Amino acid sequence: MKHAVALICLAAPLAAAPTDVELLAFVKERGRQERVTPAPVKMAKAVAERCSIDAVLGKRTHGAAAFHVYANEPAALPIFDPWGSFPEGSLVLKEKLGRDDGATQLFTGMLKRERGYFPECGDWEFFTVDAAATRIVERGKIARCAECHEDYPKGDHVTKVYAAPVQLSGGRIVLHASTAEVHGEKLQYEEKEVKNTLGFWVNAADHASWEFEVMQPGTYEIHLWQGCGKGSGGAEVAIGCAGRTCRFTVEDTGHFQNFKERKIGTLRFDKAGPQVLEVKALSKPGVAVMDLRQIVLVPVKP
Ligand code: HEC
Repeated sequence: MKHAVALICLAAPLAAAPTDVELLAFVKERGRQERVTPAPVKMAKAVAERCSIDAVLGKRTHGAAAFHVYANEPAALPIFDPWGSFPEGSLVLKEKLGRDDGATQLFTGMLKRERGYFPECGDWEFFTVDAAATRIVERGKIARCAECHEDYPKGDHVTKVYAAPVQLSGGRIVLHASTAEVHGEKLQYEEKEVKNTLGFWVNAADHASWEFEVMQPGTYEIHLWQGCGKGSGGAEVAIGCAGRTCRFTVEDTGHFQNFKERKIGTLRFDKAGPQVLEVKALSKPGVAVMDLRQIVLVPVKP
């Protein structure tokens, strides 16, 4: 039986893996992908030292380093979910920069391959690219990459250490439950994989908020992932942000962790800058208000 599964896996989606040329094009045109880090993030010295391809390129990179992370569409949202796993075809790219000069030093990347490709490390293919994005230096089941990334099984071997409430370069603002601030007595981020939500909202006066930086003013549609146990639906909830309030009624989804994506209204940011989004319950007809996994603000293109 095991063999049969392996054969099917090998036979099917190999054709989907990008060629060297396609991978390089992704790196070169990374500006067209989602950048998930609004500003360069400082790299720890120990990581900066080992995140190198000196041995291959034959030159050393000195000094403090920082990084940016880019993702293709399938990879963009799982990065913000501590338990999020990535579908086949996901691409995540780290650009290593000199902290003083901001110059690109190299790229490291991860490409999600077909099931069974590299089970020791989440079926990721690792690759490295030179600073000019002209050459794939290495690609494959690179042991020295897996050595560290094996330590992050929770996030499907992607570290996600930079995940925060942010606006992606493409415009979406991602507010995951794990990055919320909770106010009150009972409401909390419930960390287990089956939960992974703001929950225990038994006290209607408790509320949640997120602080983030708006880079692109404009109108945004509010997408909200809510779950609600049988018979507990009907709570009135208000989302307040940028001087506006949007109200909606919680839907019974049969189970608190049965999440449903809902579009519940729009918001407007007149200018760039810091913002706070608050979620407050106005009523609680059942045992709890709802479970809330994430909110994504999606720009409305004119
Ligand atoms: C010393 C441990 C270590 C090694 C070795 C390592 N990484 Fe990482 N990697 C990290 C850490 C930590 C981060 C988070 C960003 C940071 O702090 O630089 C990261 C981030 C990344 C990211 C961004 C996605 C993520 O996981 O958050 C990619 C892509 C990546 N590494 C690829 C590689 C590749 C390819 C190699 C091998 C050439 C490699 N890494 C080797 C520790 C390591």
